[in-house]
Amino acid sequence: MGRVSAGRWTDAVVPGRPDYPRRVNSQRPARVVVLISGGGSNLAALLAASDEPGYGAQVVGVGADRHSAAGLALAAERGIPTFVERVSDHAERVDFDRALTARVAELEPDLVVSAGFLKLVGADFLAAFAGRYLNTHNSLLPAFPGMQAPADALAHGVKVAGATLFVVDEGVDAGPIIAQTVVPVLDGDDLESLTERIKVAERAQLVDVVGRLARYGWQVRGRRVVVGTAGEPLR
Ligand code: GRF
Repeated sequence: MGRVSAGRWTDAVVPGRPDYPRRVNSQRPARVVVLISGGGSNLAALLAASDEPGYGAQVVGVGADRHSAAGLALAAERGIPTFVERVSDHAERVDFDRALTARVAELEPDLVVSAGFLKLVGADFLAAFAGRYLNTHNSLLPAFPGMQAPADALAHGVKVAGATLFVVDEGVDAGPIIAQTVVPVLDGDDLESLTERIKVAERAQLVDVVGRLARYGWQVRGRRVVVGTAGEPLR
């Protein structure tokens, strides 16, 4: 089963099947929607990367769950469409999820990236963007899921920390892992220094991997995510 979405981008998403292939369109940059809740340093890195010719991906919209998300201004000043969808504006959580799904779908994304987006999405959203909704998390999953990952890593006394880019599924920080990056935990670290060291590595990973996904495609095979290469694009 396949379908053709925006432009000549072709994919073959089979809802409910985890092993669908992703195929990329080399004729145009991948359309990326970024979801944020905060400062948007990951978003800023993606925006800067998409200025580079040949990067392969372009941020076409930014959404937030709160008006105070400072990253919204980064998009607005570039003329990129933004939206805010708040849980508190809906009677039921499922209504929020449907509204969020519709907002993102309007932007016809090839990829949706949660970059510090502090809301779990529901079944509607996951069905609409199966296999192409990614999250960047500031720990080496499956260690330290949840909102306090750097603090949990410090408290546990681990010697390495890092960030994980993964395909979101129904679990919390549980989906198939695309890439991980490792940083040391130093003896003198406090929460601020460790968080910042992770964020630097996390941004570099996000930019690198989103570009490669866009240019070369990827496949989710059960728990394993395979990213194409220049020599062997997955399309
Ligand atoms: C990232 O470190 C992400 O892993 C965590 O929140 C941070 C978002 O930072 N969940 P920013 O808003 O992109 O600066």
